[in-house]
Amino acid sequence: MHFNIANLHIARAVDALRSGGLVAFPTETVYGLGADASNAEAVKKVFAAKGRPSDHPLIVHIASAAQMAHWARDIPPAAHALARKFWPGPLTLILKRAAHVSDAVTGGQDTVALRVPAHPLAQALLTAFGGGLVGPSANRFGHVSATTAGHVRTEFGDAIDDVIDGGACEVGIESTIVDVSGAAPALLRPGQITAAAIEAALGAPLAAPNARSPRAPGMLEKHYAPRTPLMLVETDVIDELTRSFVRQGQRVAVLARDARQPLLANLTWIAAPGTPDGFAHDLYANLRQLDAAGCDVIVVEEPPFTIEWAAVRDRLARAAAGARHTA
Ligand code: TXA
Ligand code: MG
Repeated sequence: MHFNIANLHIARAVDALRSGGLVAFPTETVYGLGADASNAEAVKKVFAAKGRPSDHPLIVHIASAAQMAHWARDIPPAAHALARKFWPGPLTLILKRAAHVSDAVTGGQDTVALRVPAHPLAQALLTAFGGGLVGPSANRFGHVSATTAGHVRTEFGDAIDDVIDGGACEVGIESTIVDVSGAAPALLRPGQITAAAIEAALGAPLAAPNARSPRAPGMLEKHYAPRTPLMLVETDVIDELTRSFVRQGQRVAVLARDARQPLLANLTWIAAPGTPDGFAHDLYANLRQLDAAGCDVIVVEEPPFTIEWAAVRDRLARAAAGARHTA
């Protein structure tokens, strides 16, 4: 190991993790709130810091697919195929858990979520640490995920031991989650790796999650949400709706793929990238910025109904869920 600043920071972070501390780290998707996955007390601190219900299981991050067999049992060929194709990278696999994996990690389920992140600092941290790190998105429960070290500090301040700064996350939204613990692989959370790409790697169609699929509680309710109520609005009516809100004296924040904003007072307008990957990259930073603008409502232009936009659509739908009740 070279003794440069980054390595010294990694060594300090490993010390904190070994003593049961919380260290946020960058991944290519979003920042994770790391703790030793083998230390149930440390894992409990993660739930406390996030304000997350204890039955919401955590992803265990590992340095390489070689560690899969330590955390999981009965690993099917489909899991190996997906790991070979997409790890390291933005894919999480749900597998049957090994006997030693604690209920604190899995929320009492018989399955465990595993991911090998590609970010060089996540890789350096996991390699130096040696074991597995739980890593939920580094945000308070239900709130917008963090894609910069600054976002993490805004969320947690001094409530965590350390933040490793890896700049802005490349992907910007959370990993694709595929359940390979049941009879047929099923998509539990869409992400940058699309359902079509997973099916191509499997050489078989994905099943729809069913009643016997493992629960992914983060998928069921309001999530990824700014504090300002957020509405998803069709492209054609953005302009008219914005004008009518402003006429009623409301301050409006808009996230649209169109840079041509109406000339109105009390309007904050962010022009988002027009590609799904570009939109995802900026999504959480944009939502945070619009939230901070102090408006009465955030209006987001609905993305196209194509498979490439599925992950972005999913996050926006959850950010909008329940907005009517929080106004
Ligand atoms: O990209 C990501 O996946 C980021 C980075 C930091 O790796 N992590 C992340 O973690 O998004 P989190 O905890 O915010 O979301 C994990 C999701 C939750 O919806 C959880 O319910 C689900 O994964 N999950 C975890 N373990 C599971 C299991 N055994 N069965 C089903 N779902 C599980
Ligand atoms: Mg999360």
